[in-house]
Amino acid sequence: MSTLVLDNNNLEGRLEKLDPTLDLVAEINRLKKEKNAVVLAHYYQEAAIQEIADFVGDSLDLSRKAAATDADVIVFCGVRFMAEVAKILSPEKTVILPDMEAGCSLEDSCPPEDFAKFRRQHPDHISLTYINCSAAVKAETDIIVTSSNAEYIISQIPEDQPILFAPDKHLGGYIARKTGRDMLLWDGSCIVHEQFSERELIKLKAQHPDAPVAAHPECPAHILDHADLVGSTSKILEFALNDPAEKIIIATEPHIMHQMQKAAPHKTFIGAPGADGNCGCNNCPFMELNNMEKLYLCMRDMTPQIEVPEDIRTRALRPLEKMLEMSPTPANKN
Ligand code: 13P
Ligand code: SF4
Repeated sequence: MSTLVLDNNNLEGRLEKLDPTLDLVAEINRLKKEKNAVVLAHYYQEAAIQEIADFVGDSLDLSRKAAATDADVIVFCGVRFMAEVAKILSPEKTVILPDMEAGCSLEDSCPPEDFAKFRRQHPDHISLTYINCSAAVKAETDIIVTSSNAEYIISQIPEDQPILFAPDKHLGGYIARKTGRDMLLWDGSCIVHEQFSERELIKLKAQHPDAPVAAHPECPAHILDHADLVGSTSKILEFALNDPAEKIIIATEPHIMHQMQKAAPHKTFIGAPGADGNCGCNNCPFMELNNMEKLYLCMRDMTPQIEVPEDIRTRALRPLEKMLEMSPTPANKN
């Protein structure tokens, strides 16, 4: 459940009326200047959006940019919880996103009232929550983490302190195995990363024995067991570019390969397969709701805007600030 009013302000109608001959790139660039707007994009956005963005990054980098920007408007090209984080950190800014329906299966798996009950049942546990959750869940949390800082933040928590981890059981399970920490996991998962097939991955590895596998920790353990690198989107990108291998298998949302192909056109990046070998089911259906037309319209009409009720915002701000304080420097994050 979200604390937001999911109103796209007649997006379908506005799309229908849009002039198909419009030069969207020129118009978006014009609107950036006119509105003093910064466009932030996640690596899972379509290539055209990554190209027009002022900054492309992982969840932690995007949060840092949103907290530091001096633009008046933050145009967030990602999913809704990411835009919500930008608003919590920069409440004086106007935060817009191309499509308010861009949710996340992890957020959906963790209703705030159930999460609050879970916390009450385990009062001796500290709660670490993955940033992929609603503002209302953040408001009930001690510290927010992302896939690039979770391990580093946990290493700063006393060893005998039990931990509640929500909502991603795969990221939580991976960190628990790696650190040996006592962690109670919420039963949530990402519908995109759960689609990878171990059987098809083994077949692919047999066809390309020299290709290492880089995987996001939202993948289930049976996929991570085959990975040479497990890390956040930015860590996967760094590995793909710096590893000497000419071919790399990528087990995360495939739009990130745009940055890889751009920076290393001589290398081959192969998306890890889903159950039928080539199902295209690893595209995030939420991230895919955003496109250039909707990006243009949200900037032209300054809608939909993210609003977070002030009581929730101030409670959600604390665990986000804690995350930023406890995060590694860019050079040593995962
Ligand atoms: P990153 O923080 O690694 O960019 O992950 C965000 C996300 O939603 C992955 O599905
Ligand atoms: Fe959520 Fe998964 Fe999409 Fe990331 S890839 S936004 S975790 S549904």
